[in-house]
Amino acid sequence: MFSLNEYLDEILSRYYHFKIKKLKNLPSHVAIIMDGNGRWAKKRGLPRTAGHRAATRSIRKIIEASLQSKIRYLSLFAFSTENWKRPKEEVDSILKLIEEQLKENLEELNSNGVKIKLVGSRRNLPEFLIKSFEEAEKKTSKNDRLTLYMLINYSGRREILEAVEKIIENPDSFEAKEEKFRELLYEPEMPDPDLIIRTSGEIRISNFYLWQSAYSELYFTKTLFPDFKKSEFFKALMDYSRRKRRFGGLAEF
Ligand code: IPE
Ligand code: IPE
Ligand code: MG
Repeated sequence: MFSLNEYLDEILSRYYHFKIKKLKNLPSHVAIIMDGNGRWAKKRGLPRTAGHRAATRSIRKIIEASLQSKIRYLSLFAFSTENWKRPKEEVDSILKLIEEQLKENLEELNSNGVKIKLVGSRRNLPEFLIKSFEEAEKKTSKNDRLTLYMLINYSGRREILEAVEKIIENPDSFEAKEEKFRELLYEPEMPDPDLIIRTSGEIRISNFYLWQSAYSELYFTKTLFPDFKKSEFFKALMDYSRRKRRFGGLAEF
């Protein structure tokens, strides 16, 4: 079922997509801090959980847009280690919703060539969620069109500390080099995000990809995540394509 807003978004997206197809410097890895679900619900007098449910629609649209624009890696920050501080009912409903959505969309994601990866500490995640992700990871492991990293129970500091733990357990095999340290992170093969988008108007990183974001381009928007649509995703890609990345060197003119 389409709302008028979605219909308009689709028309605008087609126009942007047409422009994007001609761009050369698109990001290869886009990461999104999906924020503002609670505020979206509050504005409508709904419970926070309604905001999380509405966010699943935005997620499907972003995956669709990533496939269309040939993005190779997409990271979605869905639940941080700090989010355990929230009321148990909200935490339970977020984790259940993620699992339900994974099951519901798995066939379609797989047939579209999406490889799924769970990123985060598995230490205190419920067994049912780990099991569903392990099945999804196995089923989609040979896909290579788009890798979807779902960050659940993730914290950048925790990731670094878990890497340090591995060094302490086996100090002789470690050399203090960036490439060696990277091998100890959750996803050693993952390229750093080129573009990090944060919705909801907050201008902060909130413990996301601390090691990997060293040279990422940042894009902040006031849009609350459940309102974040395909056309805005494409707009962020166009914005990125106009930036000059220097990595500490000098720009080429
Ligand atoms: C993002 O939306 C989802 C999670 C962090 C799990 P929030 O739930 O943080 O929504 P706000 O920031 O309270 O509006
Ligand atoms: C960041 O959102 C984490 C996720 C989107 C999963 P938060 O809502 O937890 O961040 P803060 O508390 O506003 O920094
Ligand atoms: Mg928030």
